[in-house]
Amino acid sequence: MTGPGSDRTDMSPDEFREWGRRFVEWVAEYLAEVGGYPVMAQVAPGDMRTALDAEAPELGEPMESLLRDFESVIVPGTTHWNHPGFFGYYAISGTGPGILAELLAAALNVNAMVWRASPAATELEETTLDWLRRFLGLPSAFAGTINDTASISTFHALAAARERGLPEARERGLSGAPPGRIYATAEAHSSVAKAVIALGLGRDGVTLVPTDRARRMNPRELAGAVDSDVAAGYRPLAVVATVGTTSTAATDPLAAIADVAGSRGLWLHVDAAYAGPAACLPALRPGFRGWERADSIVVNPHKWLFTPVDCSVLYARRPADLRAAFSLTPAFLETRDEGARHLMDHGLALGRRFRALKLWFVMRYFGQEGLRALIECHLTLAARLAEAVDAETGWERWKPSGFSLVVLRWSPDGVAAQDRDALNLAVMDRVNASGAAFLSHTEIDGETWLRFAIGNIRTTEEHVDRAWKALRTAAVKS
Ligand SMILES: Cc1ncc(COP(=O)(O)O)c(C=O)c1O
Repeated sequence: MTGPGSDRTDMSPDEFREWGRRFVEWVAEYLAEVGGYPVMAQVAPGDMRTALDAEAPELGEPMESLLRDFESVIVPGTTHWNHPGFFGYYAISGTGPGILAELLAAALNVNAMVWRASPAATELEETTLDWLRRFLGLPSAFAGTINDTASISTFHALAAARERGLPEARERGLSGAPPGRIYATAEAHSSVAKAVIALGLGRDGVTLVPTDRARRMNPRELAGAVDSDVAAGYRPLAVVATVGTTSTAATDPLAAIADVAGSRGLWLHVDAAYAGPAACLPALRPGFRGWERADSIVVNPHKWLFTPVDCSVLYARRPADLRAAFSLTPAFLETRDEGARHLMDHGLALGRRFRALKLWFVMRYFGQEGLRALIECHLTLAARLAEAVDAETGWERWKPSGFSLVVLRWSPDGVAAQDRDALNLAVMDRVNASGAAFLSHTEIDGETWLRFAIGNIRTTEEHVDRAWKALRTAAVKS
C-alpha cells in the first residue's frame, strides 16, 4: 500500500480493494444499524465547522484517518434520512442497489453531455425512463430526462413554456415583451416561484389561483384569472398543477385543469415530485387522470422510488420544446453522430452524472411488483396512523389525508388557538431532539401543523408506533 506523502498517484488496485471491502462493510453495518442512531443530528449550528480542520492538509493523509474522522465527526453531524424513524419533509431511501450503482457510476465517471461522451449513459437514461413511464401508465409520447432535483426539472419545464409563449425573449430578452404569467396555487412548491423569478418573469409573474377547502386548485378560478390577465395585456404561459402538494399531499383536479390549459393555449406542468410513483398502483391511477394530457411532468425517484438522492425525472410530451429552450451548441461540442440524442440539449447543465444507472438498478432489483408492494405498504402504514390519530383525544388530523403523508396537531381542550402553534412546534422540537423520530411542520391558513411523512424502505409499524408514542409523550410534557 502506498503511504501518505506528496508523491501520490491514485490508489493501487490492492489498496482500493482493501478499502473498498472496509467501506462496503461500513455501509452494510450502517444500513443494518441505522435505526439505532438518533435521527436528527445532535449538534448545534457551527459545531461541525469547529470540529473540522480549517485548512486542507499539505500532504496526503492515510485512509485510516479519513474513515476515522468520517465516523467520529461526519456521522454524528448527520441527520439520518435513511433512518426508519425519519418522517420529515418527504421521507426517502438510499437502497442497496442504488448505493452500489452509485459506486459504479463514480468509477465510470462519465459526463453525459453529448451522445459520444457516453452512449451508455444517454441510452440507458432513455430506456430506464421508458420503463418508468410505462410503470406509471403514461403514454408513449412522453420522453424523459434526468435532472438533479424537481426544482431544476420545474425550472426547465417553465423555461420551455416561456420559450413557446414568449419566443421573442430568446433573442431580445424580456424587455419590451408582454409580461408573462404562470398560474399555480399557494400550495404549489416554492420551486415554482423560484423558477419564475429566475426566468425573469418577476415574483408578480406567478398568479395564485384560489383553492377549495381541500387545498385543490379551483379550475373555474384558473380560467377566470387567465381570461382577465389576457384582457389586461399579460401573456399567460403555463399552469403548474400538483399531485401531492408539499403541505398536505393534496391533488389538483388535473383533468379540469387540462381542459382550461387546452382551451387557452397554456403549457400544463404537473408537479408529481413526491406522489408520482404512486401512479404505479392501479387503485390510485384514477387520481392521476388528466396528467397524461400535460406538456411536462416531474417525478422524483429520489423521493418515493427508493433511489438515492439525487434523481429527478422530467417528462416532456414534445422533447423538441426543451431543445428549443436549451439547445445551443458551440463548435467544440458539435458531433456528426446521426440520430443521436444529446442530453445537454434538454436543460441548463452541460455535464451530467450517470444517474440513470442507479434507477435502472433499483427498478431491476425490486421489479415492478416489488416497487408496487413497497409503496402500498407505506400507504397502509399511513392509513393505520391516521386511524390512531383520529382515535386519540386531544389530537387533530388534517383531512383529507394524501398518499403516505399524515398531517396532525396537538389541539387539546383548554389551549387557546393562539398558543397552539407554539405548543406544536415545542412538541416537534422535543421529539426531534430526542432522536427517536424526525418530523417537520407546515402552515395551513397560518396555523402550524406537523407533517408525518412515511416513505423510507425500512419503516415498519414499529417505527411509526414509536414515533406516534414519542409525539404523545412530548405533547403531555409540553
Ligand atoms: C411537491 C414537491 N415539488 C417539488 C419539490 C422540490 O424537490 P427537490 O428538492 O427535488 O427540488 C418538493 C420537495 O419536497 C415537493 O414536495
